[in-house]
Amino acid sequence: MMYTVRVHTNGKMREFNVIPGKNLLDFLRDNSIDISTPCGGKGTCGKCRIRVKGLLELPSEKEKVLLGNKALTDGYRLACYNKIESDIEIYLDSDDENKDANIVTSGLEKVIKVRPIVIKKYVEMPIPDISDQRPDTDRVIDAFGGNIELTSIELIRKLPELIRKQGYKVTIIGNENEIIGIEPGNTSNKLYGMAVDIGTTTIAAYLYDLNNGKRMDVYSTLNPQRKFGADVLSRIDYASNSEASQNNIHREIIGCINHIIETFSQNNGIESSDIYIAVFVGNTTMIHFLMDLSAKNIALSPFIPVTTSIYNIKSTELNIKINQRGMIVIFPSVSAYIGADTVAGVLSTGMHEKDEISLLVDIGTNGEIVLGNKDWMYSCSTAAGPAFEGANIRNGIGGIRGAIDRVFFEDKLRYTTIGNGKPIGICGSGIVDVIAGMLENGIIDETGRIIDIDELSDLEKDYKTRLAKIDGLNSFILAKGEDSFSYNEIAITQKDVRELQNAKAAIAAGIKVLIKKAGIRADDISKVYLAGGFGNYINIKSALKIGLIPAELKEEKIESVGNAAGSGAILGLLSVKKLEETIKIKNMIKYIELSASKEFVDEYVNSMFF
Ligand code: FES
Repeated sequence: MMYTVRVHTNGKMREFNVIPGKNLLDFLRDNSIDISTPCGGKGTCGKCRIRVKGLLELPSEKEKVLLGNKALTDGYRLACYNKIESDIEIYLDSDDENKDANIVTSGLEKVIKVRPIVIKKYVEMPIPDISDQRPDTDRVIDAFGGNIELTSIELIRKLPELIRKQGYKVTIIGNENEIIGIEPGNTSNKLYGMAVDIGTTTIAAYLYDLNNGKRMDVYSTLNPQRKFGADVLSRIDYASNSEASQNNIHREIIGCINHIIETFSQNNGIESSDIYIAVFVGNTTMIHFLMDLSAKNIALSPFIPVTTSIYNIKSTELNIKINQRGMIVIFPSVSAYIGADTVAGVLSTGMHEKDEISLLVDIGTNGEIVLGNKDWMYSCSTAAGPAFEGANIRNGIGGIRGAIDRVFFEDKLRYTTIGNGKPIGICGSGIVDVIAGMLENGIIDETGRIIDIDELSDLEKDYKTRLAKIDGLNSFILAKGEDSFSYNEIAITQKDVRELQNAKAAIAAGIKVLIKKAGIRADDISKVYLAGGFGNYINIKSALKIGLIPAELKEEKIESVGNAAGSGAILGLLSVKKLEETIKIKNMIKYIELSASKEFVDEYVNSMFF
């Protein structure tokens, strides 16, 4: 016997036959129907809500708590909690989040000499005669300028006919070591490359014309792997289940990259085969999933990755659909928790070349911190949790349309949203702003407690009316039900404040441990680069106010640099010299493991208060 499940999305309906007892989340995953599952289906985040018509088991106490009465009465259920026990209809009312994703894709721009790892050269070779009996291979190598090998048997086989048919006028494509392609005629003006930053939550990709170093296109999307969990640990957990899960998680990212390539080609009137290089950065786990490597040991002490080296791989080996002879370049990582994205971030700031001491703080799903200069560098990674990306926060969302991204405590409370529409939730930059404002206005005390309404006598009336109890917790309402997109109020609860306190304490403590390790004072730091996709650039004043950055690091030293990892990947795409620098950076950075550090725990506790 089978049940019929109808799934309604964006006015379209799809019908499936499903075996009785199938878990609803598994059913959605098996059919590539994407919903938000930050906890990876463990039943703790309450975000996998879908509207269901039809018979399901009565909700458990835990499901009731996570959903709340209003959502239950409106027909919402949590996918991971329920099994299919009848014919049902599922309504997914969120539009495709990707469409509206507002992901930070800009960063530090640099002027560099464009010399990518792959170059093309149009040549007109001398026609052989009795006084010039060089073999075809030598003729091609000489025409390219020598100092390169031609070892591909496939290419060599085609060579005699190709060059003769073209009257010895061809375009040769070479990387640092070997000739990777020969094309008829002059195609030297068609040489493109892409740089991709694979974040745990978001993916940012950039298309470049490698002849002049000009940016042609940018594409950003949410990482489709997030349906297997919001953070790296949930995803490793999922991928370690079976070979099929490992394969799923790899296929998901390759599918997404090939979709980006297709979009780039269509939007820019180029052939995907004209893209010869794709450079990738990402945290160590994302790089493992990209390469289809097991990330299992990254999650287990002593945290050993399969590899942290730099790679040049043939595109066909990863089934990435750029030119068949194109190259996939993967930046090196440092350790299990300091990935290729951090190496790229350092490269983009240039801190590895400076005399002055800089601090790079990259806050994504984790917080990676690097401190140093041209002579030394220390790094650490803090399991800050994905609070800054909206996960584990009651109304937290990524940087998508409708996210509250700025909050102003003026005469009246005011906020802006991405896309200027009605709010649907709050993203990282908004969360930092609202907590800073609540602190400044005495709504939160220094311990992080949202104070009771009767303690607010001298406050502006507008703020006072925003205090409420939600699920028994002191809360601060940002948008009332009638003002929000979903008609549910958007609020910061006491639990959210605690989540943020944990996250900011972890980052602040990480910074302090590195400062001590380096034997310097915070004052010695000349520059702080604050990187990451917070939904929108974080407000530096707010970051200082909540203590995310130690107060000694004055505002004028801090620069919000957006996606530094993406900028680093672009440098590696455009310049082989910059690519080589990544190896130096990798070898220079000394990784400090915080999970075994008593110092970190002490600093963490100290940094908890505001
Ligand atoms: Fe279902 Fe988190 S509660 S995925």
